Amino acid sequence: MAKIEEKKELQNRISVFCETNGISRADFAVKADVSPATLSALDNGQWDKISLSMVKKLTAFIKSTEAGNVFNTSDFQTVQDLCDTAKKYHLMIGLIGDTGTGKSTALTYYGNRKNVYRVTFEKSMNPKQFYTTLLRELGVDFEGNINALINRAAAELNAKESPLIIIDEAGKITHSVLLYLHDLREKTKAGCGIVLAGMPYFKTNLQKFASKGKEGFSEFLRRINIWHTLNGLNAAEVKYIAEKNGISDKERVKELCRIKRFGDLANEILLDKIMSNAI
Ligand SMILES: Nc1ncnc2c1ncn2[C@@H]1O[C@H](COP(=O)(O)OP(=O)(O)O)[C@@H](O)[C@H]1O
Ligand SMILES: [Mg+2]
Repeated sequence: MAKIEEKKELQNRISVFCETNGISRADFAVKADVSPATLSALDNGQWDKISLSMVKKLTAFIKSTEAGNVFNTSDFQTVQDLCDTAKKYHLMIGLIGDTGTGKSTALTYYGNRKNVYRVTFEKSMNPKQFYTTLLRELGVDFEGNINALINRAAAELNAKESPLIIIDEAGKITHSVLLYLHDLREKTKAGCGIVLAGMPYFKTNLQKFASKGKEGFSEFLRRINIWHTLNGLNAAEVKYIAEKNGISDKERVKELCRIKRFGDLANEILLDKIMSNAI
């Protein structure tokens, strides 16, 4: 059983989180994937209604996004800036980065902002499932055929102020979803931005299919206003992160400085900790 102090502390952190990101309690419930009833129980001090597993879930959600747990590297900042630009000017932006470069981390962070809706694409998603997931992110439980789903998503987005859709793992988007995404873009482009993030093959595949004249690809490609490829970590960033993780040996730091991807660095840091029996 979690202590009442722990629950009060959580209540406080949720308030700070909502304030920092400019979102309502209802928005928070959707982003953290908990029921509004849970949040109101927390707000009203009905502590017995909040289970230990709920405390753990909410704490983990907030912790993952609090400053101090993410490093503000140049790539991380670039992703925040690109999302800002897409949101403000209603652009469609393609973000490219190798696996482990920190795309999802940076996008998740931005995804906590007001009127930002993030969907991670899964290869098995068909167009209907994609739009149902997007609508759920928008806080709407809605069923219908694909046309009704798209129209409802467009209506929801067009009713918001400067919304942004973030689609992570965009390289996995299937041909049919791409065609329907095109429809959504057309219906919302006056006011809604889209950021599509994926591995390098996301862009090269779009180009390849466009050059082969496959339906919809050149039209879609043409509508991407900006492409940006992440650079990976630089030596100063690796050094800073290594030192923050207690690695001070000069030779070891020098060796780590060759690493470009966050994922690889995190793994090396973990191995160092195991070797030194720190964990
Ligand atoms: N800015 C960051 N600060 C701290 N850790 C990060 C940061 N970016 C990425 N990581 C860590 O690196 C790993 C890979 O990041 P991820 O965002 O999943 O990359 P990608 O989506 O590009 O494959 C994750 O374990 C993540 O926790
Ligand atoms: Mg990712």
